[in-house]
Amino acid sequence: MPIRRSKVLVKWIIENQHKFQLQLSAVRSCSSSLRYKELEENVQVQAEIALSAESPSTLPRPHITPEISFKYDDLQVRLAAPYQLQPKPEAKDLGFGKYFTDHMLKIHYHKQLGGWQKPEIMPFENLSIHPAAKALHYAIQLFEGLKAYRGVDDKIRLFRPDLNMERMNLAAQRSGLPTFDAHELIKCISRIVQIDQEWVPHSETSTLYIRPTLIGTEPTFGIMAPESALLFVILSPVSAYYKASSDGAVSIFADPNVVRAFPGGVGNRKVGSNYGPTIEATARAAKMGHHQVLWLFGPDHQLTEVGAMNIFMVYINDQGDKQLSTPPLNGLILPGVTRRSILELASQWEDLTVKEEVITMDRVMQLNQEGRLLEMFGAGTAVVISPISRVGFLDQDIVIPTMKQAKPVFQRVKDTLLAIQYGHIEHPYAVVIS
Ligand code: COI
Repeated sequence: MPIRRSKVLVKWIIENQHKFQLQLSAVRSCSSSLRYKELEENVQVQAEIALSAESPSTLPRPHITPEISFKYDDLQVRLAAPYQLQPKPEAKDLGFGKYFTDHMLKIHYHKQLGGWQKPEIMPFENLSIHPAAKALHYAIQLFEGLKAYRGVDDKIRLFRPDLNMERMNLAAQRSGLPTFDAHELIKCISRIVQIDQEWVPHSETSTLYIRPTLIGTEPTFGIMAPESALLFVILSPVSAYYKASSDGAVSIFADPNVVRAFPGGVGNRKVGSNYGPTIEATARAAKMGHHQVLWLFGPDHQLTEVGAMNIFMVYINDQGDKQLSTPPLNGLILPGVTRRSILELASQWEDLTVKEEVITMDRVMQLNQEGRLLEMFGAGTAVVISPISRVGFLDQDIVIPTMKQAKPVFQRVKDTLLAIQYGHIEHPYAVVIS
């Protein structure tokens, strides 16, 4: 076969591989359609409400000047050659963030050259970075995490990417990194996901995790806004973030001697410096047989987050109603996309009161002793929903009846989110990109 024709054939195969899987997804769609019918009826009403809901006015908004952003229209694409394509791992081997797709997105920023440069999609490669780059010394960096889901209809969806972009810009602002127009980055991300679409797992237990990262690359030791930066996006097919106990729940350890964040700090921004310093406490918790750390704050031991997730509690309130609560966004807590979606969705459920409120360990123990504490769970993009069945605190082992509930709220929340993400129900949170 002439070289040109074989090149065209290889290109066609790369671009169309996903169509070979259509039959498989049709079977999947059939078997699950009944299960989702009931959810769909509920969520359709909520979709309209969610669309009309403004983002809470009290939340900070980044200051963006769209005209100084990079532009999707300037995107340059250099596809990997066939010999550079990596084999795709089996779903059972995926783990979390161990494998990466064939391409990456890079956007350089150089103040001296007028700011943002043209976005480029290129074959996945190592970065070459000056050892004095500010990101390596002062953690002048940030990252995001969102996922691309292959739906039952074989369409690929992102989940509320605008919220990730907004959070990214807020973190950039805090660290003196350049901001950008969220929509331009969403378009660039959609394009790279389309190019690597065959890496989006054909499964509802795995997804393609998208990791946008922004690092200060200026190679000088001054602690000041970097004059050069690199925004890059890499993609990783993932399954479960961590293993739970045999009942599917996790055990967490609340150590009052360590904090994850403090007032005026960056607990509400997705910056790497919030995560590195959690390692020692997490390892200590693991030695005692716990999966994650429950991060407390203050003399009254307020619950803030659990592991890298937001925390939720379900209990019978003083009025005798079932209530879903999570701590308010007081600066110590990451404004999670999953957190916000749960609050918005569940506030439409008539049989549940939903509240953002301060939750202390005393309150947890009191509710538990009175038999009013029903569930605790963590929520985040990586894990989705992680039920909690035990809390270690001081010398106590608090058993939470999360897995004993007949119709647990955590399961309903999880089913609703997954139904939206995998396209079982149409919802404005899920943005179709192909
Ligand atoms: C997420 O759930 O999105 C996270 O940020 C977890 C990640 C740090 C692994």
